[in-house]
Amino acid sequence: MKFFIDTANLAQIKEALELGILDGVTTNPSLMAKEGITGKESIYRHYKKICDLVKGDISAEVISTEYKGIMKEAKELAEIAENIVVKVPMIKDGIKAIAELTALEIKTNCTLVFSAGQAILAAKAGATYISPFIGRIDDTNWNGIQLITDIFDIYTMQGYDTEILAASIRSGLHIVEAAKAGADVVTCPLDAILSLLKHPLTDIGLQKFLDDHKKAQAAAIGKS
Ligand code: E4P
Repeated sequence: MKFFIDTANLAQIKEALELGILDGVTTNPSLMAKEGITGKESIYRHYKKICDLVKGDISAEVISTEYKGIMKEAKELAEIAENIVVKVPMIKDGIKAIAELTALEIKTNCTLVFSAGQAILAAKAGATYISPFIGRIDDTNWNGIQLITDIFDIYTMQGYDTEILAASIRSGLHIVEAAKAGADVVTCPLDAILSLLKHPLTDIGLQKFLDDHKKAQAAAIGKS
């Protein structure tokens, strides 16, 4: 399973990159706004910085919601760098654009997927990735992970190549459950990735190893 980081924050991207486990980045208009990046030129410059940092796929989202606008923006975004994946919303014109972008060999990520039916349509259009939003489904008291399982079963049975990119991840548990459900990719906030490191028995065990080593060294010095 690939690990993407879900942020437009360069410091967090660098931290995940330095861990040696980062395969790509996803952004969205809210995440860009959170970094205070506004205006097309600044936004495109920021995407370029991310693409220069991380060699894997970088999702950059279109703002247009009608076919011609989506196509224009998608082509401009694809020009920024080879590793740009154009993120397109799951709407009628979005699906039409994904089909055309697929024909043009431009990679796409169909975002805001909340049902198996939407996932089927995006795969038929040839999306490179689909992004089911696990956390936002859980927020409505439905089961986000069950959607990943359902899409995985359908894609496996039907032989679709579209990769399942589990998004709206809120915790380490979401990452583990997405892996068990068959997600190809998880895109996570840095905190969720770092939370995977943590187990109290690891801390206790490491402390004991270090204490025992220290005691043995002190005893050896006492003997000499
Ligand atoms: C996916 O690509 C989205 O950017 C993201 O995962 C949404 O997460 P949120 O529900 O925490 O905003």
